[in-house]
Amino acid sequence: MKRTILITGGAGFIGSNLINLLASRYSSYRIVNFDALTYAGNLENLKAVENLPNYIFVKGDITNADEVDAVFAKYTIDSVIHLAAESHVDRSITNPLSFINTNIIGTVTLLNAARKFWNGDFNGKLFYHISTDEVYGSLGDEGLFVETTAYDPRSPYSASKASSDHLVRAYHHTYKLPVVISNCSNNYGPNQFPEKLIPLAISNIKNNRPIPVYGKGENVRDWLFVKDHAEAIDTIFHNGKIGHTYNIGGSNEWKNIDLIRLLCQIMDRKLGRENGDSEKLITFVSDRAGHDLRYAIDSSKLQNELGWAPSVSFNEGLEETVEWYLANTEWLDRILTGNYQNYYKEMYSNR
Ligand code: NAD
Ligand code: TYD
Repeated sequence: MKRTILITGGAGFIGSNLINLLASRYSSYRIVNFDALTYAGNLENLKAVENLPNYIFVKGDITNADEVDAVFAKYTIDSVIHLAAESHVDRSITNPLSFINTNIIGTVTLLNAARKFWNGDFNGKLFYHISTDEVYGSLGDEGLFVETTAYDPRSPYSASKASSDHLVRAYHHTYKLPVVISNCSNNYGPNQFPEKLIPLAISNIKNNRPIPVYGKGENVRDWLFVKDHAEAIDTIFHNGKIGHTYNIGGSNEWKNIDLIRLLCQIMDRKLGRENGDSEKLITFVSDRAGHDLRYAIDSSKLQNELGWAPSVSFNEGLEETVEWYLANTEWLDRILTGNYQNYYKEMYSNR
């Protein structure tokens, strides 16, 4: 095997899309998926690769140093792509400490293992940390986040991710650990847990349930199809400069309410409903505490220096996403009938 890559959080939304890409594209790489299988982790997302000889799953927790050390020792890891995290802003508002644990302590635990096992021999080694544009805070009507934008995280989620980014950079400066970081905008696509806006709306429209829109629906997000994110990660993993940060985004800004209306039109068509039927489900609910107004990414460094560009238009990506959720009703139903029901009641009953 040419390389052994430890991918943390590989059973989650982005991690599974990434492993599906890398394990089939690079048969000479050994891919070790290290995931605790929290509520957000689902091995069904990896059915296409589970029998490939270059793919291995290890159940483990990034906050547990013994488990992390064991996987480094057993598989002689030379690269890490670190995605494992608590990732949902609303959950971070109700339970910040689990975000501090996983996103900060977990990241440091991995950094310590890389430092210990690579032991100063950094030839052919890489620690690639996957982060979010939310570390930069919230924009007004104008402007874009660039790599040098000052950090200004405003939710427990983004503060925990910002902290992990700082620690990754600190290990580079202090111990010379070879690191690279990317900060990406909002992703959508297959395998996303239906607590996030797009799959939640698809699921509720399908089941004729209200679509909860926070506040007036005027918050803006820059949406990127998850497979384009996976391609960007592949590009940065192979060609990114050590110590550098790359912003990844779709240059695809949408107000939540406009996005939901577009989704309703697509769903009406797919479900054979009258045009306008699904829109009747839109329900304005009380706003998220500290709700960031606008995120928008300038990804020109990645585009100009490494040649990546998004390849899937929003219409194509949404069509594929809707089709995936409609074709994978068992995947969705298992989530909707499990513990998620309690979460949904807690999160939405008093909005
Ligand atoms: P997700 O919530 O879908 O998946 C997270 C995965 O991490 C799950 O498989 C879960 O089981 C695993 N995990 C959680 N805690 C763990 C622990 N202690 N030990 C081992 N595994 C653990 O998240 P996602 O949306 O795929 O996001 C992946 C990464 O990308 C995160 O670091 C997130 O901050 C970042 N990111 C996400 C987005 C987005 O729009 N979803 C955008 C930019 C960056
Ligand atoms: P989300 O998918 O949670 O991603 P993030 O908060 O990381 O950007 O939310 C996307 C946007 O949609 C955000 O502005 C909050 C809003 N939103 C709703 O209006 N209703 C919902 O039920 C959810 C989950 C989100």
